[in-house]
Amino acid sequence: MKLLGLILLLQVVALMVVARVIFQDPVVAFQKEILGSKFAITMDEWLEQEAAVSWDCIRRNINPPGTIRGFVAASPSKFGPDYFYTWTRDAGLVMRVVVSRYDDGNEEVKRLLHDYVAQEIYHQDGSGYEGSWGRPQNDGPAIRVTTLLLLAKKSSPRYVEGTLRPAILRDLDYIARVWEEPCFDLWEEVCGVHFYTLMVMRRAMVDGAEFAREFGDHKRASHYAQTADSILSRLDTFWSSSSNYLSVTQDHCDNVWKHSGLDTAVILAVNHAGMKPYTAGSDKLLATAHRLESAFENLYPINDLHPADLGTAIGRYPEDSYDGYASGSYGNPWFLTTAAMAELYYRAVHEWEQDKNTLITVNDINSGFFARLFETSEDKVKGLSFRYGTKAFETLVDTMTTRADRFMATVQYHQHDNGSLSEQFNRWTGFEQGARDLTWSYASFISAADARAGQPLP
Ligand SMILES: *[C@@H]1O[C@H](CO)[C@@H](O)[C@H](O)[C@H]1NC(C)=O
Repeated sequence: MKLLGLILLLQVVALMVVARVIFQDPVVAFQKEILGSKFAITMDEWLEQEAAVSWDCIRRNINPPGTIRGFVAASPSKFGPDYFYTWTRDAGLVMRVVVSRYDDGNEEVKRLLHDYVAQEIYHQDGSGYEGSWGRPQNDGPAIRVTTLLLLAKKSSPRYVEGTLRPAILRDLDYIARVWEEPCFDLWEEVCGVHFYTLMVMRRAMVDGAEFAREFGDHKRASHYAQTADSILSRLDTFWSSSSNYLSVTQDHCDNVWKHSGLDTAVILAVNHAGMKPYTAGSDKLLATAHRLESAFENLYPINDLHPADLGTAIGRYPEDSYDGYASGSYGNPWFLTTAAMAELYYRAVHEWEQDKNTLITVNDINSGFFARLFETSEDKVKGLSFRYGTKAFETLVDTMTTRADRFMATVQYHQHDNGSLSEQFNRWTGFEQGARDLTWSYASFISAADARAGQPLP
């Protein structure tokens, strides 16, 4: 009898093992079936995996076969659409990520950076691309010089003096001269004075003033510092208390116009160049993030079709009609803007955690954001406060991080199975479209992942 019992027991155990293999953990099985195998890994695992893919793809797009050294392709796509160009903005943003990966002695990364610098100096007059997009785009030199200034901090005095300094001063002097003039925006469509462009210019002027002071050029240092102050005064005029968000453009020079004034460019501005009072955790940015998410939530059908644990797919601006191939169609959510929204949340958390005096109070400006965050009404959150070190603060940090992770999960859900990120994903079907392997998509992903790890790009 004892033997029979043992055999029975063994059979039951064997059956359980077989059952486990066949049926698996029901949640994992569901994820595999319904969501595809990519969802069967944790967020941390996926982030690590995707960061490696992104870094690989960035390097693949720098100096691809048949190009000169220092060429940063916006995408390897040569037709439908043709993005096989170096854009000053895209290259500068991508190289900001590369600089963050540059340590002493890393010769491969050093070569990428020095080739980029040589190439940009050669084209510093803004030439190099002769396509149909609007010119000038004065955010380009500001982004480039910010990246060069970051590189200067990690470079030998000889390289700084001989190579970087002249290029840096040329960009800084240019910005100080033209900052008030209308130009084309970062999407290369609208002519006017833009929040994004002013933000990256201000950052360049502040960092540039410090750089000039360090090598004893006090005249330039004070000129840059004054320009930074003037830019800040102008930035303040982009806030509208009646609409309760930061609008994107003023002083339009032609009839290209966004009636909403809403644009994720405002979020990107803070991720790329945030400085007090325009930081990720500031009331005005949170208010703007809330309005943007509301707009996209209703605009893209995939936001209704998504599993509940995904965040809202975010596009550039509600009126967008560029589908990745042509304008006059339907705009879609983008990977880089969806990752940018996540990054804003991670940066806000980082900012609050850095300062032991943090006290966030829910007020008339930010209440829409906090109502969304805690899935309740504005009345219920108004007057709440979160002081550093309290239980409430911990809850805030956890909720913000979970929400940010959901935006990242949206990126994961719509990416190519092999981890590739294109420019856009279709608003109805969710499939990738537009330029494949967009270098800026990868830079934006890495930038968000670094912010999540508590190390936002400087
Ligand atoms: C993934 O596959 C696509 C299409 O086959 C290809 O264009 C892309 O380069 C691949 N990406 C990676 C990271 O291998």
